[in-house]
Amino acid sequence: MEQIDYSIMPTASKDVFAACLQKPPGLSDDWLELSQRIYTVGEHNVWDILYRRQMDILDGRACDQFNQGLELLDFNNGGVPDFSKSNEILKSITGWTVVPVPMLIPDHVFFYHLANKRFPAGNFIRAGDRLDYIEEPDVFHDAFGHVPLLTDPDFAQYMEAYGKAGWKAIQYNHLKALSALYWYTVEFGLINTDKGMRIYGAGILSSAEESIFSLEGNSPNRIYLNVDRVMRTDYKINDLQQSYFVIDSFEELFKQTQERPFDDIYQNIGASFQYAPSAILDTDHIYNRGSQEYALRGGHASGEKPV
Ligand SMILES: [Fe+2]
Repeated sequence: MEQIDYSIMPTASKDVFAACLQKPPGLSDDWLELSQRIYTVGEHNVWDILYRRQMDILDGRACDQFNQGLELLDFNNGGVPDFSKSNEILKSITGWTVVPVPMLIPDHVFFYHLANKRFPAGNFIRAGDRLDYIEEPDVFHDAFGHVPLLTDPDFAQYMEAYGKAGWKAIQYNHLKALSALYWYTVEFGLINTDKGMRIYGAGILSSAEESIFSLEGNSPNRIYLNVDRVMRTDYKINDLQQSYFVIDSFEELFKQTQERPFDDIYQNIGASFQYAPSAILDTDHIYNRGSQEYALRGGHASGEKPV
């Protein structure tokens, strides 16, 4: 089998279906900014407001590994964390670092960083008068939502394996299928614990509304995660999810990804997704069959309350 050198960025030709992103001037091919932005007092204050609000809501809702990560990284000292300090700690635990990027970066560059244990984080923060709206992932979503779990060895291994899986997705021109896996795990995943279902997905952890909706809403489905199935499942990027997928442990999540070569999935799926975001299959292990009331009433665009 061909050995891949993950220290070299994969190439994604124009034939590979991916979002066309324009690299800002002055950046190298890795899209990294040279240093973390110096945040203003007002910007640190936005972090603090978001941090306090989420910590209140996440009490009893976030998984233990997330809370432990926040403690280990000293993220609770106020203000946007200084990556140079958190990186020292993070690197000593799992070998990961956080690196600043100016905006969403292309898939192949993202895979390259993850495969080398670097997590790209937006080098900016949302405006104080629009706390719940972000056009692109900012430092609160990326650092608060994603980074604490990188202190967990099993989750960190999964993230690295996910990055490495990108090479094959590019080769088969099926980036969207692999993105669905990231979406339903790293961004919007739930986990079973001995205290009940908890949140581990960063998209949920960094959202006040979705932290409650994902666990307590009647509308969404909650289904046991099957990697093959979610890679065939469409997702919504600008509204609350219609289905959440639940795992038993990060170790199991890593194994499901590591042991799965994905070739047969890529060889057998079409260009578009097979299942709608609200779909329930005969083969699903279902925890909650959602009413889909929120989506059926029009979702966010209609001004409906999440229920
Ligand atoms: Fe994210």
